[in-house]
Amino acid sequence: MPLIEVDQVRKVFETTVRRKGRFGMLSSLINPEKREVVAVEGISFSIEKGESVAYLGPNGAGKSTTIKMLTGILEPSGGSIQVAGMPPHKNRKQSSYQIGVVFGQRSQLLFDLPVKDSYDLLRYMYSIPWERYHRNLGEFTEILEVEHLLERPVRTLSLGQRMRCEILAALLHDPDILFLDEPTIGLDVVAKERIRAFIEKINREKGVTLLLTTHDMNDIERLCHRTMIIDKGQLIYDGSLQYIKDNFATERQIRAVFHEPYSAAAAAKVFANKQGVSVHVEELVLRITYDQNLTDTAELLKLLLDKANPRDLTMQDENVDALISRIYREGLDSGQKKQRQLIAQGAVN
Ligand SMILES: Nc1ncnc2c1ncn2[C@@H]1O[C@H](COP(=O)(O)OP(=O)(O)OP(=O)(O)O)[C@@H](O)[C@H]1O
Ligand SMILES: [Mg+2]
Repeated sequence: MPLIEVDQVRKVFETTVRRKGRFGMLSSLINPEKREVVAVEGISFSIEKGESVAYLGPNGAGKSTTIKMLTGILEPSGGSIQVAGMPPHKNRKQSSYQIGVVFGQRSQLLFDLPVKDSYDLLRYMYSIPWERYHRNLGEFTEILEVEHLLERPVRTLSLGQRMRCEILAALLHDPDILFLDEPTIGLDVVAKERIRAFIEKINREKGVTLLLTTHDMNDIERLCHRTMIIDKGQLIYDGSLQYIKDNFATERQIRAVFHEPYSAAAAAKVFANKQGVSVHVEELVLRITYDQNLTDTAELLKLLLDKANPRDLTMQDENVDALISRIYREGLDSGQKKQRQLIAQGAVN
């Protein structure tokens, strides 16, 4: 039996609309006008133990709502959810032993108290035996490099430091499943990398099942073997990231940095007869955006090195959000590969 089983789950929020005009507020108070927001519209999927799944979608797609239902914070309006064999919202206490959750935008640590106090509280709440608590705390603080932060009040930590402490808090009780809702949001490259390395380790070595939402392609590439895409509350894709990349991530960017300001006219001349290539110059930096299907990267790099004299070169794939909005616009059918897994309308399960 899968560790997580979601069947035709819906979530509808009821909101009150405030009327306009001078008496709008009063009239809304007396006779409120209700409106329904369908956040999740009949999604189904299952996740096996040990999997690491990216859950992607544009802003407002329904990702956080799904995670809140999977962790029992919200009750589904329809359908059924089983996490570790039970419906999470009905067994919140019991299921909390199986799951850890990190919301990048919210903290589960006590803001004014030292980090260690929150951990002690969690030890008490989850009845973690002392020996296991010390073992986990020792191991995790070492890998996440947070020993020196334990006595500091949470409010004095930087975002990157706090996120490492948050992830540690979510794992102290050895959960089977870790839900991460944008764990790397707002972090710099080094902090992101540290967190990724740790998450990867606990998935590989401890077999902790991961479900991760992110807007950062590097998170997915590093951590997830499977990708689910939700848009407007519906699951539109469930399959490998490679398929998406092969078929949709065709836009790339080369960033070249020069010793001296580069001229836009010179850049336009160098790439004048290259189809689908656009250039943008800003002081020392030249950005070349191109379609991989139309132009070879090697060809562009050769041209750049022959005709210009860059100090540094970096390559970037299209970001997740742009990719997903294109998938939605073009439809999954526009891909050339046959092994697609189209979920919409139950075409393929
Ligand atoms: N408590 C709520 N009351 C009313 N509407 C809500 C509530 N929570 C979420 N929504 C709405 O449900 C939809 C899905 O929101 P959700 O937070 O799940 O999106 P998301 O995919 O996590 O987006 P983001 O990438 O911005 O975090 C949005 O239209 C949002 O406005
Ligand atoms: Mg969200």
